Amino acid sequence: MTYRCPLHCAFCSNPVDYMRHRQELDSAQWRQVLSQARALGAAQLGLSGGEPLLRDDLEDLVGHARQLGFYTNLITSGVGLTDARLGALRAAGLDHIQLSFQDSTRELNDFLSSTRTFDLKQRVARLIKAHGYPMVLNCVLHRHNLAHVGAIIEMALQMGAEYLELANTQYYGWAWENRLGLMPTEEQLRTAEAVVATYRARIGKRCRILYVVPDYFEKRPKKCMNGWGSVFLGVAPDGAALPCHAARMLPGLTLPNVRTQSLHDIWYHSEAFQRFRGTAWMPEPCRSCDEKERDLGGCRCQAWLLTGDAGRTDPVCDKSPDHASVHAVVMHGRLADHPLAPHRPLAPVPEAPLVFRTDA
Ligand code: FES
Repeated sequence: MTYRCPLHCAFCSNPVDYMRHRQELDSAQWRQVLSQARALGAAQLGLSGGEPLLRDDLEDLVGHARQLGFYTNLITSGVGLTDARLGALRAAGLDHIQLSFQDSTRELNDFLSSTRTFDLKQRVARLIKAHGYPMVLNCVLHRHNLAHVGAIIEMALQMGAEYLELANTQYYGWAWENRLGLMPTEEQLRTAEAVVATYRARIGKRCRILYVVPDYFEKRPKKCMNGWGSVFLGVAPDGAALPCHAARMLPGLTLPNVRTQSLHDIWYHSEAFQRFRGTAWMPEPCRSCDEKERDLGGCRCQAWLLTGDAGRTDPVCDKSPDHASVHAVVMHGRLADHPLAPHRPLAPVPEAPLVFRTDA
């Protein structure tokens, strides 16, 4: 809904050049987009940013979406989520809220987001519960907080979380810029995975924990977005229609815009949504691979970042001729592994200082 955000996270999902796309859709344009999306059959609406609470028409748009029959989910840092706004969002029919936090410690939470928001998030979590919403928490994991995963789960349980999403960093946008400072070692990942498994066995259904592993450490790529132009359509704050959140960075891809084209046209006829849909676009080794329907060639943005060509097989696949490029990125993370880094989470490793999102 907006790229604006009070936080400045080192793994922000905004495009690195997001300040070039400042002209936001107005309320009437958003209403039209939502109506068109519902007419196309869309059922789930994720309201994200940036920080969507910076839009003062958020409650109106939630109300419109609810009237249309959407299931609505607000993805927020919690900054600006007051008791009054929660009441208004509840009255408008908001179904679900996902609150993000950065770590179980105030120091790291505030360092990673470049803001003092740790205490605020605790207060907002209590408010969300008080308004009758299930507690759904999200924490992005990386080399600086993977060792805290047990404490993060404990904190979520204390906050009454019913769902906890532990999402290892996906390396696009700002996280790609910071990949050397954020990349964990495989050992860190596997240790954290074992801690999660222990908690899952101990707490059962009290809190459902999702643990998303970065596919850099796998041999097969993820079926990104469940397939390009398959089930997901994103609309950026300026109206650009996106086959995936990161597609804006792909060169040579002309993104259609909801200001000038209907969503129906965009989904069925635009060049951008057709480009990597299905299997016809695939090069070798995907084309003749008997697993091509399973992962649909993996992630186009990852292919671009690692090979400079969005049309190549995702290098995460060990059948890809570019597979070594993944190892190069992962190994850099390892080489940057200062012996004291795990015990000094506040100090980014000297070889890889973090770069924080700026509004310049
Ligand atoms: Fe763009 Fe995977 S993030 S296709």
